Amino acid sequence: MINEELSPYEKLGGEAGVRKLVDRFYDLMNTLPEAATIRAMHPADLSGSRDKLFKFLSGWLGGPQLYMEEFGHPRLRARHIPFAVDETARDAWMLCMKKALDEMEIEDPLLKQHLLHSLFKTADFMRNQPDAQ
Ligand code: HEM
Repeated sequence: MINEELSPYEKLGGEAGVRKLVDRFYDLMNTLPEAATIRAMHPADLSGSRDKLFKFLSGWLGGPQLYMEEFGHPRLRARHIPFAVDETARDAWMLCMKKALDEMEIEDPLLKQHLLHSLFKTADFMRNQPDAQ
């Protein structure tokens, strides 16, 4: 058979899996004390944030490019300029994402490692503040 390789999107369970990941991510951001500062940067109602991150990750993981179709190029770094993203904010974002990924049933052992590595690089690129001394 040709092309048996599944995309990360498919390995995470397609649309339902990516929605579950994003929902857990924001539920964790809502409750973890370490995430209080980044939670406060978001609107009180997280439904728009959930929708946008779901649509972005869908394409980023190799599924349908839902974010691009609706909003155009993500320009992620520019879109984060209004928020003070320093090392602590980056690490809080990654903590929520790591815990959310830990709860997913992922068969490919390398996939989680690979996703965390790529997400860290993206989160690190979003930094726009000097680090606290
Ligand atoms: C590094 C720490 C990060 C912080 C503190 C942060 C914070 C935020 C905040 C406050 C918003 C606005 C939410 C809203 O308008 O509903 C936002 C939007 C967004 N973030 Fe992040 N973010 C971070 C990293 C990331 C990463 C790593 C990704 C992608 C992998 C990402 C993807 C997005 C997307 C797609 C949006 C929606 C952009 C839009 O269309 O307005 N963020 N982020």
